[in-house]
Amino acid sequence: MMFKPFRFFVPLAAIGMIAACSGPASDNRSAPTTADGTSIYASEEGRDTHSYANPVEARVTHVSLDLNADFNEQRMVGSATLDLELADDAEEVILDSKGLEIREVVNATGETLSWEMGDDSGDVHGAPLTIQLDGAEQVTITYASAPGAAALQWLAPEQTAGGEEPFLFSQGQAILNRTWIPTQDSPGIRQSWDARITAPEGLRVVMSAEMLTPEGELIDGEPGRRAFRFRMADPVAPYLIAIAAGDLAFQELGERSGVYAEPSMLAAAVSEFEDMEEMIGAAEELYGDYRWGRYDLLVLPPSFPFGGMENPRLTFVTPTILAGDKSLVSLIAHELAHSWSGNLVTNASWDDFWLNEGFTVYFENRIMEAVYGRERAAMLADLGWSDMMGDVEDLGGLTSADTQLHLDLAGRDPDEGMTDIAYEKGAVFLRTVEETVGRARFDEWLRDYFDRNAFQPQTSAGLIADMRTNLFEGDEADEIGLEHWIYEPGLPENAVHVQSNRFRAVDQAIASFASDGEVTVINWPEWTTQERLRFINGLPRELDDDRLEMLESTFSLNQAQNSEIRFAWLMLAIANRYDDARDSTERFLLGMGRRKFVAPLFEALMGEGNWGERQARRIYEDARPRYHSITTNTVDELVGTSDG
Ligand code: BES
Ligand code: ZN
Repeated sequence: MMFKPFRFFVPLAAIGMIAACSGPASDNRSAPTTADGTSIYASEEGRDTHSYANPVEARVTHVSLDLNADFNEQRMVGSATLDLELADDAEEVILDSKGLEIREVVNATGETLSWEMGDDSGDVHGAPLTIQLDGAEQVTITYASAPGAAALQWLAPEQTAGGEEPFLFSQGQAILNRTWIPTQDSPGIRQSWDARITAPEGLRVVMSAEMLTPEGELIDGEPGRRAFRFRMADPVAPYLIAIAAGDLAFQELGERSGVYAEPSMLAAAVSEFEDMEEMIGAAEELYGDYRWGRYDLLVLPPSFPFGGMENPRLTFVTPTILAGDKSLVSLIAHELAHSWSGNLVTNASWDDFWLNEGFTVYFENRIMEAVYGRERAAMLADLGWSDMMGDVEDLGGLTSADTQLHLDLAGRDPDEGMTDIAYEKGAVFLRTVEETVGRARFDEWLRDYFDRNAFQPQTSAGLIADMRTNLFEGDEADEIGLEHWIYEPGLPENAVHVQSNRFRAVDQAIASFASDGEVTVINWPEWTTQERLRFINGLPRELDDDRLEMLESTFSLNQAQNSEIRFAWLMLAIANRYDDARDSTERFLLGMGRRKFVAPLFEALMGEGNWGERQARRIYEDARPRYHSITTNTVDELVGTSDG
């Protein structure tokens, strides 16, 4: 289950649109248009309520960063030069900013341009930064990010595995990059980019781009710092610009893939991800060439708030997937799949987040099937189905508007769309389409769809038009209930539920253990991680201490090194106020900051009244300074901060 933060925001004022600029959809560089040739930014579903940008008037096409990573002040300091495409009567460009300290704005010849920072909304949206262009097609903004910029986490040496050097990483999705890059922070406004970043000697800087200077360069007159240069020649959604710096080692996994990690983590990462090349090959076999050159992985310190993030050419991953037995690598298949769904074809606004994630979960599962076989893929899909059902319940049941694929998130944090509706209902929809038209036709369509829409934003309406034109025959679209699936809540009756045969045996073991407490029916040693998860999650939420004790002692669940198993066990144990799981819970929560694990565990502890509250508060006080703001923003509301 995804964890959903509940917070509400003031809607942005409607943003004025001027004349639509047009361009042939086949030209990847020109302004994107809808099927009828008008600007996507002026269309109903292409409008992004989470950005102040005015792309119809003035659109950022390229960003050039020149920044110093200041570890003492915890700020990025320097400049951003933006190339603009202007409508004939363009007067100003509006950028997104959250907490940026702007020092100066000049045009290409160095003349000062006037600018104004609007009022900060006080929430995630930030403020509009409006620059009067006076004809300028290029602007250079000298600025610094705020010390508490939400996209950046600055780690002290003690927070790393090595303990010697500090570490920095960014997380841009969904709308956090406006806290360190002054640009139009909207997923439909694609921008190529380059960067020169300086950092203290001893750190390697990596970014989601071509790395032009892998070892960095000396800087004249600045001993003790090195500079690193990067280039992303293809236009990407700005949330995909990412950076990390630390004591990073690198090892090749294959011809076009490798892994960056702190030196002490590298060997474990290399063996965990040994199937990387095979996965890339399988993905290409399914849906066409991998278009980004290299595919590298970066293993982050344990405070990374997500499982993975599909930054182009350089996926960021949590160390909690290093299980030692490749059992959690479907997460890698997922981030790899985003190289097509998400990074090539991108949701035009966060209301269509499901276009990124639903397609990716579908594709992820096909990669897993190709590399690890049908049974493994079926188990993963079936676990996903259970997660989806859990989220449907949490969201208020099958009639809740939040169970729609296409959402209206205006005035809300886009994070609220990060539920298993987008991920799993999205994937189930595509499996239902696949079953209706047959796999061969579906695969051919999807491969062409990625090609046709490569480097373009996409909306639900755009997808429907594409499917109606290029996929469906006769009355197939109506048979499926295409619009119903996308715009209505709930789960249509034709939903394809992939079921795993192996789970039948697991379900029998659950039934007999629950009724007579017999552990011998549990074939734990032979079970895969997916079967073990099915077992733990399928147990009744109420179990007596004897049964919990029997499970714990037989399978050493408090010591489980597999993070998913450990999490599933602790959720069960906390629901039963099982005292012997207290230490294990504490160690787990102090050892990593992945929100998907951290938030539900704190919520569960807090939900158990006197039994869990005090422990939750104590653990959180200790752990909070080490968690990322993405995680603390959610947990603060569950536990309350020490002063609140
Ligand atoms: N792109 C997402 C992560 C994300 C989504 C970050 C929305 C910020 C806002 C990434 O691909 C993802 O889905 N990660 C999952 C793992 C995946 C296997 C379901 C995660 O981090 O839990
Ligand atoms: Zn994803």
